Amino acid sequence: MTMRVLTGITTSGIPHLGNYVGAIRPALAASRVDGVDAFYFMADYHSLIKCDDPARVQHSRLAIAAAWLAAGLDPERVTLYRQSDIPEIPELTWLLTCVTAKGLLNRAHAYKAAVDANSEAGEDPDAGITAGLYMYPVLMAADILAFNAHKVPVGRDQVQHIEMARDIAQRFNHLYGREFFVLPEAAIEEQVATLPGLDGRKMSKSYDNTIPLFEGGPKALRKAILRIVTDSREPGEAKDAEGTALFTIFRAFADPDETGAFRSALHEGLGWGEAKQRLFERIDRELAPMRERYEHLMAHPHEVEAVLMAGAERARFIATPLLAELREAVGLGHGTVRPLPANDKDKRKKKAHKGPRLVSFRDGDGRFRFRLLSADGEELALSRGFDDPKASGQAIQTLLGGVDDLEIVLADGVLELRQQGQAVALSPPISVAGHEEATSRLRESLRELAAENDA
Ligand code: TRP
Repeated sequence: MTMRVLTGITTSGIPHLGNYVGAIRPALAASRVDGVDAFYFMADYHSLIKCDDPARVQHSRLAIAAAWLAAGLDPERVTLYRQSDIPEIPELTWLLTCVTAKGLLNRAHAYKAAVDANSEAGEDPDAGITAGLYMYPVLMAADILAFNAHKVPVGRDQVQHIEMARDIAQRFNHLYGREFFVLPEAAIEEQVATLPGLDGRKMSKSYDNTIPLFEGGPKALRKAILRIVTDSREPGEAKDAEGTALFTIFRAFADPDETGAFRSALHEGLGWGEAKQRLFERIDRELAPMRERYEHLMAHPHEVEAVLMAGAERARFIATPLLAELREAVGLGHGTVRPLPANDKDKRKKKAHKGPRLVSFRDGDGRFRFRLLSADGEELALSRGFDDPKASGQAIQTLLGGVDDLEIVLADGVLELRQQGQAVALSPPISVAGHEEATSRLRESLRELAAENDA
């Protein structure tokens, strides 16, 4: 079973060293672990909550995507996309909104902090607070649940949001009687350092103490490093490296040997000016090759666009059928395989719990397809596109009526389901070693569905 790891970055700024060390670098490492299916995205809908400057949002989306790619993200391996390219996310937001307790949202830290600040200032409690801020956790839950992510790497400040996503998912599952949603877990990387900024506090846009990652080139990097606050010890005086912002930042980029040498040099009296030069050189060594790529991408935004559009397509490949299922579950479906008996909720629950299922949906190109899912929701096959829902429904009936004559052949790394010589559906990519097992799973699942269909 693969593990889906998903995280988003709000597009309201330009990536800085703190983002790189705290989020980009660990997320890239996570994406390279075997068995991990990584989904990383630009949370641009979220950015509208804080930022009403279109130019800034636009630039930030590009800069963040370019930074990910420049830092080595492999778009073949990672699904990289923009939240706003996935219409299923706002759609799911509404379905979740309708099962979310208002009281839960009242307790969200960010909203509460805003209310408290108003009360302290003697203002109306909701002065200046948008419904967007209030709904922030639901939108974030939709980001996560639309892809059934297992693990969500986030900073400590976001843990409450993941807990809310779990709550909301649980409530939905309970109300509609099936495990539609995986309950996501926050992954907080304890070893990943929070990088201090110029003034020694956490590096953050809100403190205006950041060091830019790529923007402004080596010049801007050096200039910012020169502004790191140090004490007044002169060259020649012994300096205690531990706990200083300068040394902590150095350590985030250097290996233990280099770090040890730097610590000793400071102890032996290395001047702060010289130390800053060494810090600059060490960071620049890591960033220079990436910066070249970053600058190229910033100058060729259509290359980034192509990656993001492909990412959105891959992401929707997961979200579209899930939403079709959810619409169906809440009563907004268009009628699929077997109309279920009305007023028979208990029976529905039991049935839905176990076996494989077929889910019809309309894809991004407006064609009608169906998907065969195993009992635990794994995709077994995707049908070809049909012009209308009737044709798709007809194909399902033909498929289920002829499971015994169905040919399943391995072709180009996928299993092809053929009926009367015609390809009806394809499995996801499959290894040669696993194809026999996959073939029998497919056939078994279809047999089971055919039997239900006849019953
Ligand atoms: N709220 C997150 C932050 O500010 C960004 C975000 C939006 C996110 N949607 C998400 C993170 C979904 C993880 C999963 O850092």
